[in-house]
Amino acid sequence: MSSTEQIQTLSSADLALARVFPKNFVWGAATAAYQIEGATQEDGREPSIWDMFAAIPGKVHQGDNGAIANNHYHLVQEDVELMSQLGLGGYRFSIAWPRVIPQGRGAVNAAGLDFYDRLVDTLLTKGITPFATLYHWDLPLALHQEGGWTNRATAYAYAEYAEIVARRLGDRVAGWMTLNEPWCSAYLGYGIGIHAPGEQDLQQAIDAGHHLLLAHGLALPRLRAISAPNVPVGISLNFTPIYPADERAETLRDAERADLFVNRWFIEPLARGQYPDGLFAALEVEPPPVQAGDLELIGAPIDFLGVNNYTRDVVRGGTMSARANESIKVGPVPGACYTEMGWEIYPQALADLLIRLHREYGMQALYVMENGAAFKDSWDGGDQVHDPRRVAYMQEYIGALASAIEQGAPVRGYFVWSLMDNFEWAEGYAKRFGIVYVDYQTQRRIIKDSGLWYSALLEAWRANTVS
Ligand code: FCB
Repeated sequence: MSSTEQIQTLSSADLALARVFPKNFVWGAATAAYQIEGATQEDGREPSIWDMFAAIPGKVHQGDNGAIANNHYHLVQEDVELMSQLGLGGYRFSIAWPRVIPQGRGAVNAAGLDFYDRLVDTLLTKGITPFATLYHWDLPLALHQEGGWTNRATAYAYAEYAEIVARRLGDRVAGWMTLNEPWCSAYLGYGIGIHAPGEQDLQQAIDAGHHLLLAHGLALPRLRAISAPNVPVGISLNFTPIYPADERAETLRDAERADLFVNRWFIEPLARGQYPDGLFAALEVEPPPVQAGDLELIGAPIDFLGVNNYTRDVVRGGTMSARANESIKVGPVPGACYTEMGWEIYPQALADLLIRLHREYGMQALYVMENGAAFKDSWDGGDQVHDPRRVAYMQEYIGALASAIEQGAPVRGYFVWSLMDNFEWAEGYAKRFGIVYVDYQTQRRIIKDSGLWYSALLEAWRANTVS
């Protein structure tokens, strides 16, 4: 389709939307290594905690794992071609630590670094800006055997790893994220065990969370020192804004408490150099083992905050469990729509969140690093996949983003989750988030209607901003 034809498929509301975004805004798509690469036993890569976890019966839907995934490791050229066809301006990917330093520390695997080097160069050749996440959940198994993130030494191993990657790619990437969603690594991985490594101990989650933050803090100055001048360094956090179901005092109190645990646990040490008051008491755990100087490292200013947001939670007082956020949600909310993940579609939450991060936490540069939706897509073997609900989701969320920008939120980019359907962690391949459909039997990629819509929006935005 030509670009003019593409733009013609947009509604007048879409065209108006495209006009809100500034010229240097980065429009992209996001993925993560373990979710797409496959080739888990090739070219010197050693197992990560996700290879281990997925092999435990009952942990991942239908026993799926990332061994093949989207075979992106081998199809990388085609996949970048696809991004280019979509007209993406940016691509957020993650680097697999067990590919680069297979034992977690020590020997560097040249083939691992070469893969990301080629990826970055191919992106740049196509005019696509690379944003790299250094840790998207695939901890080398060898480090897990020494305690993983509950062991402080892992933070130091991470900083070494970050430095090695920066020496190779720091001259070309457009931005670094030290970590993706440390809340999920800590709580889902160590607290309730629905993610790797599958531990179920809230105290371990709190300790792991601190070591993840320390890893970030240790790597931050090194990434800055090694990378080309002005390469921004940030982190991506997941946020689920909490709304009270009613005005009762106990509801307001429980909503505050849920917000403390879900949203403030990580942003406050990063933005203010301290854990939020009352967090550990509310969770009935001991504070993590903070050593002198840790919070100064963790609280050092970041260049941008990556914001991952999909949904909101509604809380009603008196329904919350004593320790954590389990069973805090009221649902279903009458009249609300939900995605296949069971996540409510509530775009206003994204706008509220971005404004809050700017006003309350002083964030001066925000990127939406993940936002998107899983729906049951079906493919009939042809060239099209119709996903009207995902198109509507993106229209509404990008609309909310536009309103946040109009209200002064300093948002610099938007990365849809995800470029293509992929291994959705504990949900295996059952949940499809892509704007591109993947037929896992043949590894064929088919651009969904949402991909075409996004592409047209970007084309319209480009047409407005060239002058
Ligand atoms: C986020 C993860 C990402 C993806 C989406 C749906 O929590 O960062 O890898 O699985 O959820």
